[in-house]
Parts: sequence; structure tokens; C-alpha cells
Amino acid sequence: MNTESLESALRNQDISIFAPVNAQLTDADKRSLLAVQWGLRNLYTGYTYLEIGSHLGGSLQPHVLDPHCSGIISIDARPTAVADDRVDAVPYPANSTETMLHLLRNVAGENVGKIFTIDAEASAVDLAKLPSLPHLCFIDGEHTERAAFLDYTFCRKVLRKDGVIVFHDGNIVFPALDKIVNDLKRKGENVRSYVLPSTVFVIEYGDAAIHKCDAIRELLLNNGEAYLYGLMSLLHYRDVYSSRSMQMLRSIWHFVNPVRRPWR
Ligand SMILES: C[S@@+](CC[C@H](N)C(=O)[O-])C[C@H]1O[C@@H](n2cnc3c(N)ncnc32)[C@H](O)[C@@H]1O
Repeated sequence: MNTESLESALRNQDISIFAPVNAQLTDADKRSLLAVQWGLRNLYTGYTYLEIGSHLGGSLQPHVLDPHCSGIISIDARPTAVADDRVDAVPYPANSTETMLHLLRNVAGENVGKIFTIDAEASAVDLAKLPSLPHLCFIDGEHTERAAFLDYTFCRKVLRKDGVIVFHDGNIVFPALDKIVNDLKRKGENVRSYVLPSTVFVIEYGDAAIHKCDAIRELLLNNGEAYLYGLMSLLHYRDVYSSRSMQMLRSIWHFVNPVRRPWR
């Protein structure tokens, strides 16, 4: 893909850019991530992108192809099954850095050389070993409250002052997001947080005001889609919780565990 067609794909959020390597993202997620990239690359020519959880490299593709992206750090612990707060664990067969690089090389040739890979959990990474500090972090690793919070803590340490942290699957890791956003509010930090369809949760720090770009403003004006997607993904749990057959179990459960009330 030449520079002109890439610019046009990013400007128009053309998700065909994700076609070569399968990404675990909805079409709306892809559009939102392209809008974030478009907003960021207009602020920083020569940005560094850090991703936690890359699997086959699907979400790395637009950054590997982007000449404005000067470096990529891909952190992935490469387990064969990934813990998830909704289920026991999700199997991840053929989950290797070699496979990812092979697939990406077919898409982006020698551009793959700008990817620095780390096969570890983010919390175990030696910060001094990072080749550069990121302007944009994407968190899409283990989908548990604990891991999302640890990944965020790592990203916060390495993110540049005016940078952006993006979470995928905000509808799953929302207890960690709630903790993070409240903590930022309590400390009076200069941040904005918002959600884009389907499940892309964005935190902008300082002067990284990417929401001012048209692509994101447009998505924000219609972010009812993101709100509903998140709530509908939880409907199953409400149905089970409210069912008659669960009443007895519920009263025992609440006797032992007081109701968590994150809502204010
Ligand atoms: C949902 S997939 C990532 C999908 C990818 N971002 C995409 O859009 O195609 C999750 C990835 O996180 C990795 N992972 C799981 N637990 C992790 C952890 N604790 N630290 C870092 N990576 C982890 C898995 O190996 C897997 O490749």
C-alpha cells in the first residue's frame, strides 16, 4: 500500500486495511482505532505505538504500514489460554511471535523491522529495555480487572506526558476502568476519557486532544452505539441473575458477599 492510499484509508477509516491479518475486533472497533490513529498521527509525526496483546498482529497492521509511526512495541505473554473475567479461560492455539511476524511481513515487508517484540507480561518488563517511549498505548491482553489495571499501571509509567491510552473490550474490563477514571478524577489530572464504538475506551492525557479531530468528533456524537453495545453485552448476566431459579442462590451469595455498588 503506498503512502497516499494509506493516508486516504486512515482519513476515511477504511477498515479494509485490517483485511490481510485477522484482528479480534468488530468493524466498529476498527473504525474507532483508525480514527484514534488519525487523530494521533496529526499531532505527532514519528509516533511510537505500544500494544499489550497482539496475537496474530491484526491490530498492529495500520501502524506497521504507517510511515508516521516510527516504532512499535508489541508486548504479549503468549499463553496458550487467556484468563477472562467472563469465563474460565479462552484458548489461544498457535499463539507465537514468529507466526505474527511472518503474517505481518506478508503485509508490510521490511516495515516489520520497526516492531520490537517482548514475550512477557507487561508488569515484568524492564523499562530500561524499551527502545523508545510511546505516544499511544493499546491494552488488549488478559481480559481481567486485575490484569487490565496492571497493564494500565505499566502504560502510565512509560507513556509520554501528552499521550493516549486506549483499552479494547471496555465492556469486560470496566471495573478496572472505573477505578482508573475515579483515581484520575480524585487527583485532578488533566485527562479526558470517553468510549467509542464498539468497546474502545480512550484516555487522553494533557495536550493529546485527539478528540478535536473530525473523525473522533463524529464518532463521539454517535456514541450511543458504544453505550448500547456495552450494556447489551451484559444482558445475559442480568437475565441469569434475575431468573427465578437463581433467587435462592442469590440470597446466599449476598449474605456472604455484600453488593458492590460502583454506581454513584
Ligand atoms: C484478544 S488477543 C489480542 C488481539 C489483537 N489485539 C487483535 O486485535 O487481533 C489477547 C492477546 O493477549 C495476550 N495475553 C494474554 N494474557 C496476557 C498478559 N497477561 N500479558 C500480555 N499479553 C497477554 C494473548 O497471548 C493474546 O495474544
